[in-house]
Amino acid sequence: MATIDLFERSNYVEQVPFDWFDELRKSDKAFWQDEPDGPGFWCFTRHADVVEINRDWERFSSAKGGTLVPHMDDEALSMQQQMMLNMDPPLHTRYRLLINKGFTPRMVKQLDDSMRDRATRIVDAICEKGECDFVSDVAAELPLQVISDILGVPQEDRFRVFDWSNRMIGADDPEYAQSEDNPLEAAMELYAYAHNLAAERKQNAQDDIVSILLNAEVEGHTLTETEFDMFFLLLSVAGNETTRNALAHGMLALIEHPDQRQKLVDDLSLMPSAVEEILRWGTPVMCFRRTATQDTEVNGNHIKAGDKVVIWYISANRDETVFDDPYTFDITRSPNPHISFGGGGPHFCLGANLARMEMNVMFEELFRRLPDIELNGPVERLKSHFINGIKHLPVKFTPAARVHPA
Ligand code: HEM
Repeated sequence: MATIDLFERSNYVEQVPFDWFDELRKSDKAFWQDEPDGPGFWCFTRHADVVEINRDWERFSSAKGGTLVPHMDDEALSMQQQMMLNMDPPLHTRYRLLINKGFTPRMVKQLDDSMRDRATRIVDAICEKGECDFVSDVAAELPLQVISDILGVPQEDRFRVFDWSNRMIGADDPEYAQSEDNPLEAAMELYAYAHNLAAERKQNAQDDIVSILLNAEVEGHTLTETEFDMFFLLLSVAGNETTRNALAHGMLALIEHPDQRQKLVDDLSLMPSAVEEILRWGTPVMCFRRTATQDTEVNGNHIKAGDKVVIWYISANRDETVFDDPYTFDITRSPNPHISFGGGGPHFCLGANLARMEMNVMFEELFRRLPDIELNGPVERLKSHFINGIKHLPVKFTPAARVHPA
């Protein structure tokens, strides 16, 4: 226990420290983690405890201290609190109703129609080469193109969104962090972009979610400019980094488990269940933070009002009391009550079905056309205790013909 440090980001570069989480789940006592520039926090690692805390917004607030682990000053926190991820009901409920107006079944159906074509073209761009970096050439592309559609970002600007979200999420990773101000600068550039886009759509509404959101109203409330900017930021990060890493983890897991891959290639109807197992296995969002609103207890552990509490989805998804053989990657696992989209409650991932759709479509296209993808170099991981990130995944495969001409 003395060596466990779940805050230090470099402890996630080699691999996720699963042995520490296994150790922590064995103990009834919640683990207290000290942190360099903050008060320290309780770590909950068991499935049942994570779900209990995740659902109970009255005892465990998302707004009080935000949902990110590192300590924030008051100014940063008040900015974060304008994002729905960092709100509590009833404000959150009103906000979520407003956002739901953009995510109508018709909108999602439209995205589905274009998604298949996009996946075909993404594979077209690499299939003749026989090798690529799976992360930048495939895994990053589909989520980025889809989120650009949602936000009404012209496709030629999508790399700017990619760069901004990398710089914000990867602030602690030497590959993305160019200077200390970098995450803030990236956020500012993104706000300026969102501002211009909003002004343009207000003049000239289009058939996209941004236009709907700018005009949506719930109980007389419309989005303020800052709220709109923060929503744009939330979707740019939440819709990109997560799905990209889910795709990368899925590819890596299927390469490392050839029997499972063969099973899937032989029967693509197993895809929906394979996607659920990939989500459990990869758990792209490893944790979120809450703040106790009152003196309380979880599984016999006393928590004081104001204490910082971190719930570890990545550990809950390997809980041996919930999952048989949790370290076996089994694409037919059933039941599979993973909590990669959250453990329930008001903040359950807004994009869960969209992400599932993207994973289904992308893997179907890949395994139909490039069934023998193999590793072609070292896998590089992100330095983060928040996102379970793969930065580079070099792969090779037998070259195949394009569907559309170049
Ligand atoms: C595999 C991909 C994804 C994973 C693993 C993931 C994971 C999560 C998690 C763990 C939460 C917090 C849940 C909670 O606190 O209870 C969340 C919230 C959220 N996600 Fe996702 N997500 C994914 C994809 C997406 C996509 C594609 C979008 C956008 C279209 C999206 C938008 C959001 C939003 C807006 C929230 C905040 C919801 C709220 O506060 O009410 N996510 N996601």
